[in-house]
Amino acid sequence: MRTQIVFGVLVVLAALAAPALTAEIIPDPSTDREFSAKLSVCNACHDVNGRRKNATIPVIWGQQENYLVKQLHDFENGARNDEVMLWMAKTLTQEELRVAATYFAKQTWPARSAGAASTPPPPGLAVCQGCHDTTAPRLAGQGYEYLVEAMRRFAEGERKNNATMMKMMAAIPPADREAMARYLSGL
Ligand code: HEC
Ligand code: HEC
Repeated sequence: MRTQIVFGVLVVLAALAAPALTAEIIPDPSTDREFSAKLSVCNACHDVNGRRKNATIPVIWGQQENYLVKQLHDFENGARNDEVMLWMAKTLTQEELRVAATYFAKQTWPARSAGAASTPPPPGLAVCQGCHDTTAPRLAGQGYEYLVEAMRRFAEGERKNNATMMKMMAAIPPADREAMARYLSGL
């Protein structure tokens, strides 16, 4: 399944990438049709009308710009491991990568479909607010499945692109991480 998706996406991208390599000017998705087509490939997974294709895919519309730039670089150079996103990041030139981050950061974070979180925040969550939504990425309203998996990967050393997050997550028992992810996804 995963391989099929990767293959399908690569075929599309191979077709798109061929003529795009000559541009030195700053790409503009509103006028550059090839770049715009590349970005619509991203939307096929991340945000179909502001909705993700499945729960393991993170929301990137309205996410912090600097965070998006860093993640794309991290995928590209292997600091963050993901087979699909490695290829996706590689299809973008360095200029396009920055413009793509700006483009997605400017979109509106999708509106919540569920009701507001009615439970009090789990203990320990106040600590997260010291960084998140200010210097660190937005977590509020991110999908539960994505959040809990991202936290597990930091905890177990599979995601290594932030040492502080690795230490912090390793110190939180899995059940507490689940409660945090549940609460954050409902915000
Ligand atoms: C085939 C589906 C697919 C496509 C197409 C795709 N992505 Fe992703 N993307 C994912 C998945 C799955 C993840 C989560 C990877 C992980 O769990 O580490 C992800 C993660 C990301 C992240 C990290 C977000 C975060 O909160 O950490 C960014 C940024 C991103 N993608 C940008 C893009 C851009 C830009 C494109 C188009 C060039 C794109 N993606 C195309 C599936 C896709
Ligand atoms: C000292 C600052 C700091 C604190 C405190 C902190 N984080 Fe983070 N967190 C970060 C940074 C920075 C990143 C982005 C790391 C990277 O570059 O990938 C991050 C990433 C994450 C991610 C991945 C987001 C994504 O889109 O992939 C999750 C989930 C997360 N943090 C959860 C938490 C939770 C839950 C807490 C509280 C228990 C917490 N963090 C506390 C700085 C912090």
